[in-house]
Amino acid sequence: MKAAYYKKTGTARDVLINDELETPKPTANEVLISVKASGINPSDVKRRAGWQNKNLPFPLIIPHSDGAGKIVKVGRNMSTDLIGSDVWVWNAQGGYAGPGRAFGTAAEFIAVPATQVSKLPDNVTFEEGACLGVPLRTSHRAVFADGPIDNKLILVQGAGGVVGNFAVQLASQFGATVIATAGSKERMSHALDAGAHHVVNRHDLSFKKEIMDITKGLGVDRIIEIEFGGNIETDIDLLKPNGIIAAYSSTTVPNPTFPYYKLAAKGGQINLIQSFNLPLEAEKQCQRDLQELCEAGKFKVAIGKVLPISEISTAHEMVEAKTIIGNVVLKV
Ligand SMILES: NC(=O)c1ccc[n+]([C@@H]2O[C@H](COP(=O)([O-])OP(=O)(O)OC[C@H]3O[C@@H](n4cnc5c(N)ncnc54)[C@H](OP(=O)(O)O)[C@@H]3O)[C@@H](O)[C@H]2O)c1
Repeated sequence: MKAAYYKKTGTARDVLINDELETPKPTANEVLISVKASGINPSDVKRRAGWQNKNLPFPLIIPHSDGAGKIVKVGRNMSTDLIGSDVWVWNAQGGYAGPGRAFGTAAEFIAVPATQVSKLPDNVTFEEGACLGVPLRTSHRAVFADGPIDNKLILVQGAGGVVGNFAVQLASQFGATVIATAGSKERMSHALDAGAHHVVNRHDLSFKKEIMDITKGLGVDRIIEIEFGGNIETDIDLLKPNGIIAAYSSTTVPNPTFPYYKLAAKGGQINLIQSFNLPLEAEKQCQRDLQELCEAGKFKVAIGKVLPISEISTAHEMVEAKTIIGNVVLKV
């Protein structure tokens, strides 16, 4: 089969190889998928680059956790009724807590446990389906992990990013009032298109005051945070008493310190979100909510760029450059 892979970490152009590899065979509880689209996330490019100096857990890695395609074969414990189903895939590379999985979605075929696929909703394309695994599951967990959101005031930091933008859609569709932050006009409009009720440019000197004015000086109930270490002081200022910060990243400050008593004085809580380890019920709820939004025609996936798998290095560089709004996807 056609596949992209790497055998050492480094820059995309130095280590990514397009070649032929043996087509995998599904084991008893797996399904074999003919991959149509492979979605790229920051975690994929970080792993390939050797983020946090992790050694390669396998001699050869086919990158990417997310994808979509058609089931073409099933393992002996699986119903043959599944053959022919269009599905989206998650966790193909597995989490950070263990070694993960060697073979991701940047290949013509992937064999994955049947528990890691879900039927593609009718009006979702393969390219869109390849953008759901990491981003949708992360945003869903960040929005819903801390209880009902009806009538809550939620601040989504980084709402022009892929995860943040899904978080805006979910929070606004399911009854919250959403204040979004973004760093440019284009990303501010992207947040408004997703359903944000208010949007503030995070580079404005008065941005904290603007947010407090929107909340009539009361602060927000919840914050969905993309850059925990960089924004924690601001977040505490913006949080209502007993408010909750659900953080899914702290890339620029990976070992943050935070003012314990400033947060404790508010009875504030911190919830760290990890999409690779979703509790089963959260996973199922995410799938049900996706289905509901799709059936109502209320779900949008912003695809920033689609490239052929032969251009995987360029695609990785685009994700690293962070200039594209929306997901970068490979057509396989
Ligand atoms: N824990 C998990 O399970 C999980 C899952 C998915 C992603 N992540 C991590 O989350 C991060 C974002 O992923 P993504 O796919 O959404 O990436 P993305 O689409 O590249 O989005 C990044 C966004 O961050 C915004 N941003 C940068 N610095 C910011 C700051 N200090 N405050 C507020 N916003 C800031 C940028 O927008 P502006 O400059 O316009 O504000 C941009 O829109 C990555 O580091 C990724 O590895 C973690």
